[in-house]
Amino acid sequence: MLSCFTKISSHKPLTRRIFLSACRKMELFVGSEHSHLYQKYRPIYPPELYAFIANFCKTGRGSLDTAVDVGCGTGLSTLPLCKYFNKVIGVDVSETQINTARQTHGQSNLVFHTSHGEWLEFLSDSSVDLVTVAQAMHWIEPEPFYKEVTRILRPGGCLVVYGYGNSTINSKDGNKIIEKFYSYDLEGFWDTRRRHVENLYQDINLPFTGSERLENIYQDQKITITWPVFVLLGRKESEKKP
Ligand SMILES: C[S@@+](CC[C@H](N)C(=O)[O-])C[C@H]1O[C@@H](n2cnc3c(N)ncnc32)[C@H](O)[C@@H]1O
Repeated sequence: MLSCFTKISSHKPLTRRIFLSACRKMELFVGSEHSHLYQKYRPIYPPELYAFIANFCKTGRGSLDTAVDVGCGTGLSTLPLCKYFNKVIGVDVSETQINTARQTHGQSNLVFHTSHGEWLEFLSDSSVDLVTVAQAMHWIEPEPFYKEVTRILRPGGCLVVYGYGNSTINSKDGNKIIEKFYSYDLEGFWDTRRRHVENLYQDINLPFTGSERLENIYQDQKITITWPVFVLLGRKESEKKP
């Protein structure tokens, strides 16, 4: 916590509330070992999603010049934007996540920056066509963040917030075991903000009117998200009874 204080206090003043929540979040994502494992094992998003996002931008303003991915982690959600935008900037509060992102992705139109999402002072007014937040909005303070997004977006620019819900498998019994593990065995280990993910961000509102939400686009269709799970089980032989 102390090193976190030293680091953040060297920035321009943040409100106490943002400062404290940033400290908490940094602790969650700070370990360098953690960020390498994160890069290696974290699920990626389908390419169709990025084509869809780029198309959403085009229909609004037509320019695909600069995109900023806030809470970019190790860059898994940032890299796919490079196919569509001239310049892509990944932003994360955790320096170790950003270091791993830099080591991993070498695209010429991609840069990474350590910063709070609520504090994007390195970006000038009306300079950005798209801001994305992938599975990170529940960590970010909406009020100051939306203020910054409104400042940096060009007129007609877009804010796209997305993520994925809890995984399921194609077995009723298997899902019961996963559900027990998630809700019972891990009870008390989840941050309270996890409830937003469980709720598929339905209680998070964007600051712009007319923002298309997935629920509108898919209307009454259900979006099913599944992850394959591999389990290797081994047991050392027990001593043979006489
Ligand atoms: C669940 S990860 C998502 C990473 C990536 N977007 C992805 O989908 O793989 C959340 C990330 O948000 C970052 N984060 C948390 N609070 C933040 C804040 N206030 N500003 C910027 N990044 C933040 C964390 O450091 C972490 O890397």
